[in-house]
Amino acid sequence: MAMNYSEKVMDHFTNPRNVGEIENASGCGTVGNAVCGDIMRVYLDIDDDGVIQDAKFKTFGCGAAIATSSMATMLVKGKTIQQALEITNKAVMEALDGLPPVKVHCSLLAEEAIHAALWDYAEKNGIHIEGLEKPVSDIGEHDHGHDLGEDEEDE
Ligand code: FES
Repeated sequence: MAMNYSEKVMDHFTNPRNVGEIENASGCGTVGNAVCGDIMRVYLDIDDDGVIQDAKFKTFGCGAAIATSSMATMLVKGKTIQQALEITNKAVMEALDGLPPVKVHCSLLAEEAIHAALWDYAEKNGIHIEGLEKPVSDIGEHDHGHDLGEDEEDE
């Protein structure tokens, strides 16, 4: 079965934006998926008004994970914390013109990594971010709905 990746996915995979680290980041979050073994780390630079000035990522993972981290970091830049929280994995996928079903979990990793970085920021500053739940470090535990193609259950 050929994987149909959109042009945008291919573009962000071959030419990812915002790769790197932010020194002394306001918030940094790392999440992984034990099932596929992919790991994503997101760094956020948040100013005193709660606006995300910069976002960078490092992803050790598949092409879709790289493309979704690239797009997710682009989408949160310039946004307030509340606006960034509204950027779901669905929004990231839509911005990439979709992902093949077996790659949906890669976009969840991107959403969760942003949340983890926001959580870290909140903890460092002793604040509560409305609507933000404590992120999990392994999204694989929450990912039973997606067949990764490794075990042959037909669902
Ligand atoms: S993040 Fe696991 S295969 Fe893409």
